Amino acid sequence: SSDTAIATLLLDWYDIHARSLPWRAPPGTPAPDPYRVWLSEVMLQQTTVAAVKDYFAAFTTRWPDVAALASAPDEDVMAAWAGLGYYARARNLLACAREVAASGGRFPDTEEGLRALPGLGAYTAAAVAAIAFGRRAVVVDANVERVVSRLSAIDTPIPAARPLIRQKADAITPDGRSGDFAQAMMDLGATVCTPRNPRCLLCPLAAGCAARTMGDPGRYPVKAPK
Ligand code: ADE
Repeated sequence: SSDTAIATLLLDWYDIHARSLPWRAPPGTPAPDPYRVWLSEVMLQQTTVAAVKDYFAAFTTRWPDVAALASAPDEDVMAAWAGLGYYARARNLLACAREVAASGGRFPDTEEGLRALPGLGAYTAAAVAAIAFGRRAVVVDANVERVVSRLSAIDTPIPAARPLIRQKADAITPDGRSGDFAQAMMDLGATVCTPRNPRCLLCPLAAGCAARTMGDPGRYPVKAPK
Protein backbone atom coordinates (compact mmCIF):
# COMPACT_ATOMS: atom_id res chain seq x y z
CA SER A 1 0.00 0.00 0.00
CA SER A 2 1.06 3.63 -0.15
CA ASP A 3 1.43 3.53 3.63
CA THR A 4 4.35 1.09 3.39
CA ALA A 5 5.75 3.25 0.58
CA ILE A 6 5.90 6.20 2.99
CA ALA A 7 7.95 4.20 5.51
CA THR A 8 10.32 3.00 2.79
CA LEU A 9 10.88 6.50 1.43
CA LEU A 10 11.45 7.86 4.92
CA LEU A 11 13.83 5.08 5.98
CA ASP A 12 15.84 5.49 2.76
CA TRP A 13 16.11 9.21 3.55
CA TYR A 14 17.13 8.44 7.13
CA ASP A 15 19.91 6.12 5.96
CA ILE A 16 21.52 9.19 4.39
CA HIS A 17 20.37 12.09 6.57
CA ALA A 18 20.04 10.78 10.14
CA ARG A 19 21.44 13.24 12.62
CA SER A 20 24.37 11.78 14.49
CA LEU A 21 23.40 12.15 18.16
CA PRO A 22 25.24 10.78 21.20
CA TRP A 23 22.40 8.53 22.34
CA ARG A 24 21.80 7.00 18.91
CA ALA A 25 23.01 3.95 17.07
CA PRO A 26 23.61 4.72 13.40
CA PRO A 27 20.81 3.58 11.06
CA GLY A 28 20.77 -0.16 10.53
CA THR A 29 23.10 -0.96 13.46
CA PRO A 30 22.05 -2.81 16.63
CA ALA A 31 19.86 -0.92 19.08
CA PRO A 32 21.66 1.22 21.67
CA ASP A 33 21.72 0.50 25.42
CA PRO A 34 18.19 0.92 26.87
CA TYR A 35 19.63 2.97 29.74
CA ARG A 36 20.99 5.53 27.29
CA VAL A 37 17.79 5.58 25.25
CA TRP A 38 15.66 6.03 28.36
CA LEU A 39 17.92 8.76 29.80
CA SER A 40 17.97 10.70 26.53
CA GLU A 41 14.21 10.46 26.03
CA VAL A 42 13.50 11.70 29.56
CA MET A 43 15.92 14.61 29.05
CA LEU A 44 14.37 15.40 25.65
CA GLN A 45 10.80 15.51 27.01
CA GLN A 46 10.78 19.29 27.46
CA THR A 47 14.27 20.28 26.35
CA THR A 48 15.89 20.79 22.95
CA VAL A 49 18.40 18.40 21.40
CA ALA A 50 21.08 21.11 21.53
CA ALA A 51 20.60 21.69 25.26
CA VAL A 52 20.44 17.98 26.12
CA LYS A 53 23.76 16.94 24.52
CA ASP A 54 26.09 18.17 27.28
CA TYR A 55 23.86 16.90 30.09
CA PHE A 56 23.62 13.51 28.46
CA ALA A 57 27.42 13.30 28.21
CA ALA A 58 27.85 14.41 31.83
CA PHE A 59 25.29 11.92 33.17
CA THR A 60 26.55 8.93 31.21
CA THR A 61 30.16 9.65 32.14
CA ARG A 62 29.35 9.97 35.82
CA TRP A 63 26.68 7.24 35.94
CA PRO A 64 27.39 4.81 33.10
CA ASP A 65 24.55 2.41 33.87
CA VAL A 66 21.23 2.25 35.66
CA ALA A 67 22.78 0.66 38.78
CA ALA A 68 25.23 3.55 39.13
CA LEU A 69 22.47 6.12 38.78
CA ALA A 70 20.24 4.23 41.21
CA SER A 71 23.00 4.37 43.87
CA ALA A 72 23.61 8.10 43.49
CA PRO A 73 22.52 10.43 46.30
CA ASP A 74 19.45 12.50 45.45
CA GLU A 75 21.40 15.77 45.90
CA ASP A 76 24.04 14.75 43.35
CA VAL A 77 21.48 13.92 40.69
CA MET A 78 19.42 17.04 41.36
CA ALA A 79 22.57 19.18 41.16
CA ALA A 80 23.65 17.51 37.90
CA TRP A 81 20.15 18.13 36.50
CA ALA A 82 20.26 21.86 37.40
CA GLY A 83 19.63 23.90 34.27
CA LEU A 84 17.49 21.30 32.49
CA GLY A 85 14.39 22.47 34.35
CA TYR A 86 11.19 20.60 35.13
CA TYR A 87 12.72 19.06 38.24
CA ALA A 88 9.91 16.52 38.63
CA ARG A 89 11.62 14.79 35.72
CA ALA A 90 14.81 14.38 37.76
CA ARG A 91 12.90 12.99 40.73
CA ASN A 92 11.10 10.51 38.49
CA LEU A 93 14.38 9.67 36.80
CA LEU A 94 15.88 8.57 40.10
CA ALA A 95 12.74 6.75 41.19
CA CYS A 96 12.73 4.91 37.87
CA ALA A 97 16.43 4.01 38.05
CA ARG A 98 15.95 2.64 41.56
CA GLU A 99 12.90 0.63 40.55
CA VAL A 100 14.72 -0.89 37.57
CA ALA A 101 17.86 -1.59 39.63
CA ALA A 102 15.80 -3.17 42.41
CA SER A 103 14.06 -5.50 39.98
CA GLY A 104 17.21 -6.93 38.41
CA GLY A 105 18.73 -4.03 36.52
CA ARG A 106 17.00 -4.51 33.19
CA PHE A 107 14.40 -2.22 31.71
CA PRO A 108 11.10 -3.84 30.73
CA ASP A 109 11.15 -4.54 26.98
CA THR A 110 7.50 -3.82 26.23
CA GLU A 111 5.60 -0.58 25.93
CA GLU A 112 3.19 -1.70 28.65
CA GLY A 113 5.99 -2.62 31.06
CA LEU A 114 7.80 0.65 30.39
CA ARG A 115 4.62 2.68 30.84
CA ALA A 116 4.38 1.43 34.43
CA LEU A 117 7.72 3.04 35.42
CA PRO A 118 7.93 6.48 37.08
CA GLY A 119 8.15 9.31 34.56
CA LEU A 120 7.35 7.25 31.49
CA GLY A 121 4.27 8.58 29.72
CA ALA A 122 2.77 7.26 26.51
CA TYR A 123 5.36 9.00 24.35
CA THR A 124 8.44 7.91 26.31
CA ALA A 125 7.29 4.31 26.72
CA ALA A 126 6.64 4.03 22.98
CA ALA A 127 9.94 5.69 22.08
CA VAL A 128 12.02 3.43 24.35
CA ALA A 129 10.14 0.29 23.22
CA ALA A 130 10.83 1.14 19.58
CA ILE A 131 14.34 2.58 19.79
CA ALA A 132 15.89 0.33 22.47
CA PHE A 133 13.94 -2.89 21.89
CA GLY A 134 12.84 -2.75 18.25
CA ARG A 135 9.19 -3.11 19.23
CA ARG A 136 6.61 -1.82 16.84
CA ALA A 137 5.17 1.18 18.67
CA VAL A 138 3.36 4.31 17.54
CA VAL A 139 5.64 7.12 18.65
CA VAL A 140 3.94 10.52 18.52
CA ASP A 141 5.69 13.69 19.62
CA ALA A 142 5.18 17.25 18.36
CA ASN A 143 7.36 16.58 15.30
CA VAL A 144 5.33 13.54 14.35
CA GLU A 145 2.09 15.47 14.88
CA ARG A 146 3.27 18.10 12.46
CA VAL A 147 4.50 15.68 9.78
CA VAL A 148 1.34 13.57 9.93
CA SER A 149 -1.07 16.49 9.96
CA ARG A 150 0.64 17.84 6.86
CA LEU A 151 0.79 14.50 5.02
CA SER A 152 -2.98 14.14 5.48
CA ALA A 153 -3.88 17.87 5.54
CA ILE A 154 -5.81 17.40 8.79
CA ASP A 155 -8.05 20.45 9.23
CA THR A 156 -9.33 19.52 12.67
CA PRO A 157 -7.45 21.58 15.25
CA ILE A 158 -5.09 20.18 17.89
CA PRO A 159 -5.96 18.78 20.42
CA ALA A 160 -9.19 17.40 18.90
CA ALA A 161 -7.20 15.94 15.99
CA ARG A 162 -4.94 13.84 18.20
CA PRO A 163 -6.86 10.54 17.88
CA LEU A 164 -6.89 10.89 14.09
CA ILE A 165 -3.19 11.81 14.02
CA ARG A 166 -2.40 8.72 16.09
CA GLN A 167 -4.43 6.57 13.69
CA LYS A 168 -2.57 8.01 10.69
CA ALA A 169 0.78 7.56 12.44
CA ASP A 170 -0.13 3.94 13.23
CA ALA A 171 -1.02 3.34 9.57
CA ILE A 172 2.41 4.47 8.30
CA THR A 173 4.48 2.79 11.06
CA PRO A 174 6.29 -0.22 9.57
CA ASP A 175 6.67 -3.61 11.26
CA GLY A 176 10.46 -3.50 11.00
CA ARG A 177 13.05 -0.82 11.87
CA SER A 178 10.62 0.79 14.27
CA GLY A 179 13.29 2.70 16.17
CA ASP A 180 14.78 4.08 12.97
CA PHE A 181 11.31 4.99 11.72
CA ALA A 182 10.45 6.89 14.90
CA GLN A 183 13.70 8.80 14.84
CA ALA A 184 13.41 9.45 11.10
CA MET A 185 10.04 11.13 11.72
CA MET A 186 11.65 13.27 14.44
CA ASP A 187 14.56 14.24 12.19
CA LEU A 188 12.27 15.04 9.29
CA GLY A 189 10.19 17.25 11.60
CA ALA A 190 13.25 18.94 13.08
CA THR A 191 15.19 19.59 9.87
CA VAL A 192 12.79 19.55 6.87
CA CYS A 193 9.13 19.60 7.91
CA THR A 194 9.79 22.51 10.28
CA PRO A 195 7.07 24.57 11.98
CA ARG A 196 7.70 27.58 9.74
CA ASN A 197 9.06 27.58 6.17
CA PRO A 198 9.04 23.81 5.64
CA ARG A 199 11.67 22.76 3.12
CA CYS A 200 9.42 20.68 0.88
CA LEU A 201 11.99 20.62 -1.93
CA LEU A 202 14.18 18.46 0.33
CA CYS A 203 11.37 16.24 1.61
CA PRO A 204 11.34 12.54 0.68
CA LEU A 205 7.56 12.49 1.29
CA ALA A 206 6.66 15.58 -0.75
CA ALA A 207 5.03 13.68 -3.62
CA GLY A 208 2.44 12.17 -1.28
CA CYS A 209 1.92 15.18 0.98
CA ALA A 210 -1.62 16.59 0.87
CA ALA A 211 -0.64 19.89 2.54
CA ARG A 212 2.06 20.49 -0.03
CA THR A 213 -0.31 19.70 -2.90
CA MET A 214 -2.71 22.26 -1.48
CA GLY A 215 0.05 24.85 -1.41
CA ASP A 216 0.20 25.87 2.25
CA PRO A 217 1.97 23.24 4.36
CA GLY A 218 2.80 25.81 7.06
CA ARG A 219 -0.91 25.98 7.93
CA TYR A 220 -0.70 22.54 9.62
CA PRO A 221 -1.10 21.45 12.33
CA VAL A 222 -4.14 23.68 12.85
CA LYS A 223 -4.24 24.99 16.43
CA ALA A 224 -7.47 25.68 18.30
CA PRO A 225 -7.79 29.39 19.12
CA LYS A 226 -6.79 30.08 22.74
N1 ADE B 1 13.46 14.14 20.50
C1 ADE B 1 13.01 13.21 21.36
N2 ADE B 1 13.62 12.03 21.16
C2 ADE B 1 14.48 12.20 20.13
C3 ADE B 1 15.38 11.37 19.46
N3 ADE B 1 15.53 10.09 19.82
N4 ADE B 1 16.09 11.89 18.45
C4 ADE B 1 15.93 13.19 18.12
N5 ADE B 1 15.10 14.02 18.70
C5 ADE B 1 14.38 13.55 19.71
